[in-house]
Amino acid sequence: MSRMLEGKSVLVTGAAGGIGRQAALLFAQEGARVAVADVNDKGAAETAELIRSIGGEAISLVADLTKTEEVKAMVNSAVRAFHRLDGAFNNAGIAGGHVGQGGRFSADWEEDAFDRVVTVNLKGTWLCMREQIQHMLEHGGGSIVNTASLAGIAGFPTTSGYAASKHGVVGMTKTAALEYAPKIRLNAICPGYVDTDLLKDAMTRRGDQILARIPFKRLADPKEIAEMVCWLLSDRASYATGQAFTVDGGYMAG
Ligand SMILES: NC(=O)c1ccc[n+]([C@@H]2O[C@H](COP(=O)([O-])OP(=O)(O)OC[C@H]3O[C@@H](n4cnc5c(N)ncnc54)[C@H](O)[C@@H]3O)[C@@H](O)[C@H]2O)c1
Repeated sequence: MSRMLEGKSVLVTGAAGGIGRQAALLFAQEGARVAVADVNDKGAAETAELIRSIGGEAISLVADLTKTEEVKAMVNSAVRAFHRLDGAFNNAGIAGGHVGQGGRFSADWEEDAFDRVVTVNLKGTWLCMREQIQHMLEHGGGSIVNTASLAGIAGFPTTSGYAASKHGVVGMTKTAALEYAPKIRLNAICPGYVDTDLLKDAMTRRGDQILARIPFKRLADPKEIAEMVCWLLSDRASYATGQAFTVDGGYMAG
């Protein structure tokens, strides 16, 4: 059987580490040329180098996804390098802990922090989608996966701005899926608790409580999230669009 993403060109944001890095590596192993983007230039370059070290093809791009011109330049650079864009994984994101709001209930969140989380996670994803959709429409279609969260489909105490942004990602993804069907498939993934830097703040404060509530009694390896994204970007998911897929060790089944 051929590799899942053979011959495809794919852009991954938030690819300096965590889920994005593992996804970029898997996509390359599955045959894609990968544009690795992040605001963290060193981390993005390392991911691209890791891909090359396993015989894959990659470029690294630096972009702050809250800046319209940087998003445009990022998508244009990916298209220029690989002549087309078949898939995009819009994965970059921050949590409350990044803006000093870890552990705070809704009425205790600061306004600037709320704005920042929503701007990175929601507006940043929309800016990316806007550019990607235009390229995909010109080149026969494609598949886009946006990273939401369990906090994009349910409430989680202390995640106010984060939950708002991730619910927004799910709504925006479903809307675009209806608008661009069948040419472009758009889906969201909703990871459970994943072993990355983003989760460190929450694990430090209440790691035992978190683990106790996960049926698998462990965090996800970022590779386990990447597998679902790889399938959604591939032609094997040809009838899957407009959905928010949970990958959560059973968390939402309870
Ligand atoms: N770790 C979890 O438990 C978990 C659970 C559900 C959803 N998620 C989501 O998964 C995605 C990836 O997170 P992760 O867990 O791999 O964490 P991570 O911190 O390792 O990765 C996030 C990446 O996004 C990048 N980034 C942040 N702001 C950016 C900006 N303005 N422009 C460009 N890049 C930016 C960071 O530099 C970083 O490399 C995020 O959207 C996060 O909300 C994570």
